[in-house]
Amino acid sequence: MGKDPRAHSRDPQYKQAKRKGYRARSSFKLLEIDRKFNIFKRAFYILDIGSVPGSWLQVAKEKATKNLTKYKDGFYHRDHFKIMGVDVKKISPLEDIKMVRMDITNPEFQNEIRSYFGDKLDLVISDASIKKSGIKFSDHVNQIKLCKNILKIAKKNLKRNGIFIVKTFTGEDFNLFLKEMKKVFGIVVNFKPKATKKGSNETYIVGMKRR
Ligand SMILES: C[S@@+](CC[C@H](N)C(=O)[O-])C[C@H]1O[C@@H](n2cnc3c(N)ncnc32)[C@H](O)[C@@H]1O
Repeated sequence: MGKDPRAHSRDPQYKQAKRKGYRARSSFKLLEIDRKFNIFKRAFYILDIGSVPGSWLQVAKEKATKNLTKYKDGFYHRDHFKIMGVDVKKISPLEDIKMVRMDITNPEFQNEIRSYFGDKLDLVISDASIKKSGIKFSDHVNQIKLCKNILKIAKKNLKRNGIFIVKTFTGEDFNLFLKEMKKVFGIVVNFKPKATKKGSNETYIVGMKRR
């Protein structure tokens, strides 16, 4: 049976997100991750993977805009930001953000990244999610497969000490994926935001200190 479409608009977090001008409640998960790990510190070049409807992009833009004045202190700083969002679905435009409609497994995507940023990234965030079938095991396996592709992109494009956030689902291959993450990042932490829906097996892995 399909989900009740009214349940979404009755969700208090969804209502709160709308009040604050965010396109989705997922914005609160990213804000929570940032409160815990300070992921946006000195982040100017940011790639958001799996962006539709765009609330993570909204948060990224707010943070990057603040960074332009916050970090004028002689350490790493840029006088502009660059943010790109990518999704297989159409993304409604957001000012000053580059939107790409593409499957991230398409090899062409790497050219998109390089030609837009022209330099290594400070931060890669991914809330990308496979279309769930409801069969937990195969959903988990397919999500891990997607995460591995996203990790490859982060590995190729992140600057040294860069930060990476990726959504995954817990299950059999979870620890193997953590191992893969640890080859690329000096610090790897599993974090489940309170804003995650009850009963969900989704969780976020934070990779810090890109080797
Ligand atoms: C949960 S939504 C993202 C919500 C978004 N973070 C926000 O705050 O608005 C997950 C998105 O990942 C996208 N996605 C899944 N697999 C993808 C792939 N291979 N390439 C590009 N986008 C993908 C889906 O189309 C979907 O829009």
